[in-house]
Amino acid sequence: MRQRGRPSRGLFITLEGIEGCGKSTQARLLGEYLRTQGHVTVETREPGGTPLAEKVRSVLLDRADEPVAAETEAFLVLAARRQHVAQVIEPALARGVIVLCDRFSDSTLAYQGYARGLNVSLLERLNRLATHAVTPNLTLLFDLPVSTGLARRRSASETNRLDRESLRFHQKVRAGFLDLAKRYPARMKVVPARASKEAVARAVARIVAPLLNRVHRTDAQTATPRSTPSHHTQVRHAAR
Ligand code: TMP
Repeated sequence: MRQRGRPSRGLFITLEGIEGCGKSTQARLLGEYLRTQGHVTVETREPGGTPLAEKVRSVLLDRADEPVAAETEAFLVLAARRQHVAQVIEPALARGVIVLCDRFSDSTLAYQGYARGLNVSLLERLNRLATHAVTPNLTLLFDLPVSTGLARRRSASETNRLDRESLRFHQKVRAGFLDLAKRYPARMKVVPARASKEAVARAVARIVAPLLNRVHRTDAQTATPRSTPSHHTQVRHAAR
């Protein structure tokens, strides 16, 4: 992970993919697995993860009738990201814990860039501004056909504004993510996500295991008490 200013001691893992790919379930399972291994984790999500950023999330995903310009979407997710990185992610990494983030900068490139058509290199520059160049050590890209993901999503929960976009839109999102994985093969690992959640979780654990020796369990535990941020747990349940 690159970080402007001081180096950090933690491990930053992001989970990405189309709607219904199972990343939120996998974030929870990975968090449980890491804690049984003695690691301290902070589990969070984007847009969101702080009270202010969760308000931005509600605005972004609201199904009001007013059309939302692509640039408006981009500025909203970037504003939420800056707040989240400054308030939650950077402090957690500085404490040496493992941060698991359900969506991050790659979602902006896939959704607002590849799917909405905004310039991807401009978005990459804006992402650097929003993150202060904090970059994940590992990005797990959960991949499955769009029709499977959308069917899962639409049966599981109330849909938000972006879920309701066309099949073509979600196909562009998926293609965008896969293109990013080709561009950043060291950081992004594609995880086939059609299998059972247990099988996918085992695949995830195999990918994550080699990175764990860089976070010292005892260091992490003395650096902070068990630290899943309680505000996050609350807002996550309130927000969808
Ligand atoms: P989800 O995290 O529950 O899948 O929903 C978040 C939605 O927000 C999802 O439709 C993708 C969208 N999103 C963007 O369009 N750009 C972003 O940068 C992020 C983080 C999310």
